[in-house]
Amino acid sequence: MDADPHPRQIDLFPAVASSLEQLSEGCRGCRRCGLADGRLQVVVSRGNPAARLMVIGEGPGAQEDASGLPFVGRAGQLLDQMLASVAIDSNSEAYICNVVKCRPPGNRKPTALEIAACRPWLEQQIRLVNPAVILLAGASAMEGVLGIKGGITRLRGQWRPGEQEPLAGRWLMPIFHPSYLLRNPSREQGSPKWLTWHDLQDVRRRLNQLESGS
Ligand code: URA
Repeated sequence: MDADPHPRQIDLFPAVASSLEQLSEGCRGCRRCGLADGRLQVVVSRGNPAARLMVIGEGPGAQEDASGLPFVGRAGQLLDQMLASVAIDSNSEAYICNVVKCRPPGNRKPTALEIAACRPWLEQQIRLVNPAVILLAGASAMEGVLGIKGGITRLRGQWRPGEQEPLAGRWLMPIFHPSYLLRNPSREQGSPKWLTWHDLQDVRRRLNQLESGS
């Protein structure tokens, strides 16, 4: 586990939000970890709060910190394109957020403590949005949500039934993070991009099944 560069006690449990507006307001005032010190903005979400699909990434980068919206930089553009390739519009048919809502300095990975500090916000987001399907983009999201450390290459594309509240009754799938796909642009059979496209086709199928009630 990485050492937290700004150790501080995680004391205040965030007040329970009864709406996403209240949740955003709570997040904007949050100082539960050291990431609050370096942020320009708290990055809560973009997309449709009534979507059946939630995508959870790692944490905001520079462009997200500046705009206040998740996945708006190059990785976000690729995520949008990949979702569009299976007929999912990222703004109207998905709700997009991250395991941490403030930018880690220098785009480093969020620490386990930072993820734990932010987790009550994410849990509230899951309850309020109530998605049927959750995509975990990258190892930090997989670790932060499912508690599984490492093994994204082996575990991506596998459906996992959510076991405990607020995951119970939902289907979760780890996928490669779009930043990793930007670094590995090959589309050859068996490449990370090719595999992700197949994973997303599987997601499309599950959403279709849920929509048709079968
Ligand atoms: N990468 C993420 O994981 N989240 C963002 O919001 C942007 C890039």
